[in-house]
Amino acid sequence: MSSSTKIIAIDGPAGSGKSTTARKVADKLGFIFLDTGAMYRAVTFLALEKKIPLSDSEALQNLAASMQIEFSDDSEGQRVSVNSRDITSQIRTTEVTAAVSEVSAHAGVRRHMVAKQMEMGEKYDIVAEGRDTTSVVFPDATLKVYLVASIEERAKRRVIDFQRMGKITTVQEQIKAIQERDDYDSGREHSPLKMTDDSIQVDTTKLTIEGQVNKIIELFKEKIGE
Ligand code: DC
Repeated sequence: MSSSTKIIAIDGPAGSGKSTTARKVADKLGFIFLDTGAMYRAVTFLALEKKIPLSDSEALQNLAASMQIEFSDDSEGQRVSVNSRDITSQIRTTEVTAAVSEVSAHAGVRRHMVAKQMEMGEKYDIVAEGRDTTSVVFPDATLKVYLVASIEERAKRRVIDFQRMGKITTVQEQIKAIQERDDYDSGREHSPLKMTDDSIQVDTTKLTIEGQVNKIIELFKEKIGE
C-alpha cells in the first residue's frame, strides 16, 4: 500500500467466508477486491496442465514469474484470466483445490505473487483476502480482520459451493479436506496462516453474509474515524 491507498486485509482458514465477504465489502466501499487464493490457484492450474511436479520449486517459481494474471468483473462475480485465457471455473476444481496448498508453500512462488499483490496495493484501495494478507502482503493495512468459523459450518458451506458447481460431496468429506488444508496452510515454513496481534477476530459461524459485511464496514469506519 502507499500512504494514499486504503487497504482492508482479511485472512482466515478455508471456508471462513473470506471471499464472499471481501467481495461484498469491496463493492459497498467502491474498492478493488483482491482474491489472493485465486492467484495461487491459477499457478496451480497451469502447473497441473503443464505436468510440472508439485515439488519442483524452480519450475513453479519460473511459471509464477512468467504468467500474467488478470481479474475482471461480470454480473456473476469476478473472472480470472491468465495470459489472456479465462480460467475462472478451472481454478475451482477438486484437482486444483487438492494441489494448491503444496504449490503455494514454495517460497519462490509466493515471492512473485506477493510482489504482484503489493503492486496493486500501491495503486488502488483494496479489500484483500487470503492467508498472509494481514502478515506479509499488507502489514500496514488500514484494517486487519481474521475470520473464523467452526469446521462443521465451513464444511457445510463448501458442500453448498460444490452443489452450485453441480458436484455432490458430503459434510464429512469436506471436514476431512478442510482439516488437511488448514494443517498444511498453518504448518508450512513460509508465511503460514496465523492471526497477527493487530488483527480483529470475527467469528462468522452464526453470522449471515450481510452481518459479516456490515461488521467489517463498521470496523473500517471506526478505524478511519467516521
Ligand atoms: O482461499 P482459497 O481456498 O482460494 O486458497 C487456496 C489456497 O491458496 C490455500 O489453501 C492456501 C493458498 N493461499 C496462500 O497460501 N496464501 C494466500 N494469501 C491465499 C491462499
